[in-house]
Amino acid sequence: MAMGILICLRVEPCIRLYVYIQLPLHSCRNCSVGSWFNLTAPGTRIPLATTGQASCHTSARKRTEKSATMGQPRSDIDIIFSAEQISERLGRLAEEIARLKLERLAVVAILKGSFIFAADLIRALHEVGMEPEVDFMTLSSYGKSTVSSGTVDILRDVTIDVGGRDILLVDDVLDSGRTLAYAKDLLSARGAKSIRTCVLIEKEVDRAVDIKADMSAFKCPNVFVVGYGMDMSHRFRELPFVGRVVSA
Ligand code: IMP
Ligand code: MG
Repeated sequence: MAMGILICLRVEPCIRLYVYIQLPLHSCRNCSVGSWFNLTAPGTRIPLATTGQASCHTSARKRTEKSATMGQPRSDIDIIFSAEQISERLGRLAEEIARLKLERLAVVAILKGSFIFAADLIRALHEVGMEPEVDFMTLSSYGKSTVSSGTVDILRDVTIDVGGRDILLVDDVLDSGRTLAYAKDLLSARGAKSIRTCVLIEKEVDRAVDIKADMSAFKCPNVFVVGYGMDMSHRFRELPFVGRVVSA
């Protein structure tokens, strides 16, 4: 649908030139012209499945076609926790965290595996009125393997001073427990006031070290999980669900 302006230019006393300028009424994310009449309210999240509404551009069309495969069952992965289940669970987890009344809260996410979980959890915390500071540390115990090496390497440290602060330590999986225990001990030695641990997946296995997650989104038997930030040999992080690889 379009709307326009009709302009009348008087060239000679008896000659009039009419110019009609057409204005687009739809909101298009792909061209600057469309932004004249951007009907999308500030802060509105455009669902990925509808980003193709500005169908005048090939890229938008491609995005729509691609989005049709997002989150859909695929033959190489069994879905364990769907995107909807995760989203719903994170809302309740955020309410649980809000009830703890933590002060000067800093969320410390352990990379790489927790980056999507942490990002969604932080936005869920915002929904319940919290304003945490956020930092990251990169730890490695698996490399490209699916079995823990037994030692934890710190590849990148936090940049904030955790001294005297309430910390929410976020990780993707609690398995042997070495990674979470290492991070917790490190932040505790630096004088954090309190440290709560929160993991996406708590594997129901015997831990190599004595640690429990204060909060977990899901419990899961001893299978190697991928998706929602978690990888197998650097693959599958982009999947919006948590699943198990059945054929590589
Ligand atoms: P833990 O030190 O053995 O408890 O293992 C924790 C770390 O290993 C997590 O931070 C994950 O990055 C990784 N990990 C453990 N199990 C899995 C899995 O099933 N899928 C992906 N990563 C895993
Ligand atoms: Mg990890």
